[in-house]
Amino acid sequence: MHNDIEMILLDSSELEKITDTLAERINSDYKDKNLLLLCILKGSIVFTADLMRKLHIPCRLDFMQVSSYGGSTVSSNQLKILKDVSCPIDNFDVLIVEDIIDSGFTLGCLVKYLEDKGVKSVDICTLLSKPSRREYEVDVKYIGEEIPDYFVVGYGLDFAEKYRALPYIGVLKPQVYENKEV
Ligand code: IMP
Ligand code: MG
Repeated sequence: MHNDIEMILLDSSELEKITDTLAERINSDYKDKNLLLLCILKGSIVFTADLMRKLHIPCRLDFMQVSSYGGSTVSSNQLKILKDVSCPIDNFDVLIVEDIIDSGFTLGCLVKYLEDKGVKSVDICTLLSKPSRREYEVDVKYIGEEIPDYFVVGYGLDFAEKYRALPYIGVLKPQVYENKEV
């Protein structure tokens, strides 16, 4: 285990089971749809890569990188788009693939942005959710695992751009981040 990690919350075999279960549901729910997986950079890259290899139905892949301005209302113009989709997406059933939902603000804005683009449907698949931190109502169709209010890293998730390559989801030791903004 990495020296900055206090404990492992989900090891690679647990992550494997989570992606198996989610993929099984998506395979069935989207078999007659026009699925576009929308990987939200950077944190969702590992999750998306594992999930998509378990899908047996046709699917497209695209990427967005966003950050939110963090205003008091959820609206698409609160969204700062660092990278937008690369093709028109109005003909697709978009499934947003996200690493973790915290307050729900970013995803709330993103769903509005995609709805404004006129997509056929938009739903969310998140690996992790911290329900105790939710401030904005977001309808999340697929949740891998609900976790307590820990700051977690690994399997794509970072702290200050570090730890993304860890093969598990781990809780960071408080002394690693206590003097920094998280
Ligand atoms: P929200 O808009 O508050 O839901 O922010 C969600 C974003 O915050 C995620 O996409 C992550 O980038 C980041 N985030 C929230 N909690 C964690 C965590 O525990 N570890 C790493 N990143 C996190
Ligand atoms: Mg993220």
